[in-house]
Parts: sequence; structure tokens; C-alpha cells
Amino acid sequence: LVLRPGYEGPEHILEVQGTIPTIGPQEGWQVYSSAQDADGRCICTVVAPEQSLCSRDAKSRQLRQLLEKVQNMSQSIEVLNLRTQRDFQYVMKMENQMKGLRTKFRQIEADRKTLMTRGFQELKEKMDELQPLIPVLEQYKTDARLISQFKEEVRNLSAVLTGIQEEIGAYDYEELSHRVLRLESRLRECMGKLTCGKLMKITGPVTVKTSGTRFGAWMTDPQASSKNNRVWYMDSYTNNKIVREYKSMADFVSGVESRTYNLPFKWAGTNHVVYNGSLYYNKYQSNIIVKYSFETGRVLAQRALEYAGFHNVYPYTWGGFSDIDLMADELGLWAVYATNQNAGNIVISQLDPDTLEVLKTWNTEYSKRNAGESFMICGTLYITNSHLTGAKVYYSYSTKTSTYEYTDIPFHNQYFHMSMLDYNARDRALYAWNNGHQVLFNVTLFHIIRTTDDS
Ligand SMILES: *[C@@H]1O[C@H](CO)[C@@H](O)[C@H](O)[C@H]1NC(C)=O
Ligand SMILES: *[C@@H]1O[C@H](CO)[C@@H](O)[C@H](O)[C@H]1NC(C)=O
Ligand SMILES: *[C@@H]1O[C@H](CO)[C@@H](O)[C@H](O)[C@H]1NC(C)=O
Ligand SMILES: *[C@@H]1O[C@H](CO)[C@@H](O)[C@H](O)[C@H]1NC(C)=O
Repeated sequence: LVLRPGYEGPEHILEVQGTIPTIGPQEGWQVYSSAQDADGRCICTVVAPEQSLCSRDAKSRQLRQLLEKVQNMSQSIEVLNLRTQRDFQYVMKMENQMKGLRTKFRQIEADRKTLMTRGFQELKEKMDELQPLIPVLEQYKTDARLISQFKEEVRNLSAVLTGIQEEIGAYDYEELSHRVLRLESRLRECMGKLTCGKLMKITGPVTVKTSGTRFGAWMTDPQASSKNNRVWYMDSYTNNKIVREYKSMADFVSGVESRTYNLPFKWAGTNHVVYNGSLYYNKYQSNIIVKYSFETGRVLAQRALEYAGFHNVYPYTWGGFSDIDLMADELGLWAVYATNQNAGNIVISQLDPDTLEVLKTWNTEYSKRNAGESFMICGTLYITNSHLTGAKVYYSYSTKTSTYEYTDIPFHNQYFHMSMLDYNARDRALYAWNNGHQVLFNVTLFHIIRTTDDS
């Protein structure tokens, strides 16, 4: 969804996927969003409320219209400019040929008696050369239409401007530009809200590759630009410290490695995460989290996660030293683990990505040893109830409201054993290691932006 100024109204339904919960359209924006399309755009389904959050008062609506018109006009000018330049050169060339043709005619007229077949042939060739001029002239006519439309738009624009002028009294440029800026920031805020939501559905999987042991991890960096799609691959849950890097998903699939990194410490489990160019992982036989920079090959930080159980004290259901799960979402970096203090139940901590300090902690009542996997989307932790066939997303905990909910979101555990399941906010996908297969799931998120949310 590209939310443009001017987009509003009660009945804009772009695309409907799945079932719409019973929520009246007057309550707020209802947004379903899922994976990206080939161009990297999010696919959103929007049911707009009767009173749009993004367009409260008539003045900003007019301004938005104004902005769009200005945008449209500059685009028209651009097109017109390009076309006119190109056509002008062509017409110049044709003009020269026409002059040549005129000379030819004069010659023929001057000497009717020596009129020869050859002369006619030349004349015909010249005529043929002039044929392409016709579409150019047609184009000119189109441009002329565009120009008159353009003029009308300018007239309309003046009318809108006059309307605003009348409304806010004297024409005040400062005030106007201030409003435009405010509108812009509101729109941006609106967009930010559209990208987050509650998990509704998991679709897929798509098997990207079959490689490695039954247990491992693979990932891309959610903070990287969409052009940079490096893949990192960390096979096995123990006794390894080699990270393999691939330049792209295609290279990963075909097995063309671009680099390998030899980490200073072995890792434990499969719950590592790459975030903003660094690998965050749990150092083996400890509750120490290591931040390793791929660029410099250095450890930038390491810190013990206080009270966190490790080395199969509080693993996920499948074991494999999966005690400490590091993950990233739209809001930042997180550690999911369990402590004796919280009776072996899952603890969520938000981490400072630079220092690895714990910023804030939430205690859930879900036993870590009974959790198959967990992943974070928009500050909500989703926990599966098993790593085996029939597993589903069974429980969710919102760090925003510090409340939990039982859920029933199935997903297809195609290869029967799941040793890694992590959300990537850039790709809007779940990366999974499914019994020696690297698979991807799409997620569908749902959001209601209540009109009262607006501030
Ligand atoms: C701007 O251009 C788009 C696409 O051509 C059109 O749909 C829209 O109505 C235009 N907006 C205004 C305010 O003229
Ligand atoms: C100008 O405004 C009139 C009346 O609102 C409308 O019919 C017309 O389509 C507008 N023209 C352009 C080019 O926007
Ligand atoms: C996710 O959705 C996108 C767009 O519909 C599609 O191209 C892609 O194959 C899907 N991926 C998975 C893992 O289902
Ligand atoms: C990512 O790293 C860059 C420098 O490498 C830093 O400026 C930026 O703030 C970091 N972003 C986040 C979200 O941590």
C-alpha cells in the first residue's frame, strides 16, 4: 500500500484476504498486511474508517489535495519537457529534409523536359523519409491537449488556494508550510502504524533449500536495505563457530558462498540473530550474549544475561541448548529466556543493541520448557506449543500492555521438526529451520488504528 495524500474515504477496500472480524468500519482503520511483493512493497488490505485518522479537518484535506496537485503538475511538466525536447530535435531534422525536397521540386519545375524516372524515384524516397513526421505531429497535438489540461489544473489550483485563503484569512505562507509539515509527519506516523499489527495467519511454507543437519539457523538482516540481501547460515546447535555468508538468496540457493567467519567463541543453540550488521549469539555453556561485527570481525560487546538459565536448564521443547533466544522486530532487539526467579517461565527482555544492557523486562506465565519456539512481532511475543507436527502459535504476550492471550494460529510443520522460527520485520516473513530444510512462512498482520489513537 502506498498511502498517498488524498487517500481517504469510508469505502476504500483495496484487497480483502481472509475473514474480516466483526468490527464496524466506524471504529478505525482495519489493516491486514502480509509479505512483500516482487518490488519489495508490503501488501496491505485496508478497510478505512468513516472518519479517517489521516484527514481530520477540511483544511488539511484541502492542503493534501493541493500537495497532490502540485505533485501531479510537476510530473506533467517533466513529461512534457522530455517529450518536447526529443520531438524538437526530430522536427529540426525533418525541416532540413523538407528544404531539400523543396529544392528538388524547383529543379524539376525548372527543367520539365529532362524529367526522368530517376527524379521521381528520389522524390518518392524523400516522401518516405517524411512519413515518420506524422506521428510526431500527432504527439504534438497530444501535448497541446496536455497543456490545456495543465492550464485547467492551474486554474483549479488557484481556486483551492483561494478557498484556503478565505478560510484562514490572509494568505500566510508560513502557516501553510507549517501545516504541510505537520500533515507530512502525521502521514508518516500513520504509515508507521500501518506496518505493525497482530498476527492473524501464517501461510506457506516455501522450502528455500535443503541442507545441513536437523538443527541450525539461517537469517537475513532486517535492518539492511532491500538491495542488500545477504544470507547467513549457522548449521548445528553446538560445537561450531563457523558462519557462512551468501551475497543473496539466489547465491544461498545455489550454494555460492561469499565469505566465512570464524567466530571467537562457539555458539549454543540456534537462536541467533543478525541485526544491523552484527551477529548476536549465546556463547556456549554460558548465559553470555556476544555481539560480533561482520564488518570488522570483532566482538563489539559481550554481557551476561542475569539469572538466565543456560545449557539445557530452560531450553525449548526440542532441547539443543536453546535456552536463550535472541530476536529482533520493528521495535528493536530482544532476549527470550527463563529464570529460576520466574519459576522457569518465559522472561522477555528488551536489549540495548550497542551495550547489550537490559532496558526492560517482562515476566510471562508460560513455561519455557513447554514452548516449541517463539518469535516477536511489533513488541508481541508469539509462542508455539511444540516443535513437532501439529504445532501452532498457542500463546501471545504483548509487552505494550503486559497482557497475554491464548491463540490458535496453525502453521504447516512440513518436515516434522522445527529447531528455529524467527520473524524478519523487513521481509515480513518467518525464517525457519525445519529438519534440515530452510523454509519461509508469510505472516498476515491485522491492525485497527482507532481514531482516538491520533495525537
Ligand atoms: C493526480 O494524478 C493521479 C493519477 O493521474 C489522479 O488519479 C489524481 O486524481 C490526481 N490528483 C489531483 C488532485 O488532481
Ligand atoms: C477542474 O475543476 C472542475 C470542477 O471541479 C473539474 O470538473 C475538472 O475536472 C477539474 N480539472 C482538472 C484538470 O483537474
Ligand atoms: C509470500 O507472499 C509473496 C507475495 O504474495 C509471495 O511472492 C511469496 O512467495 C510468499 N512466500 C511464502 C513463503 O509463502
Ligand atoms: C545501525 O548501525 C549504524 C552504524 O553502523 C547506526 O548509526 C544506527 O543507529 C544503527 N541502527 C540501529 C537501529 O541500531
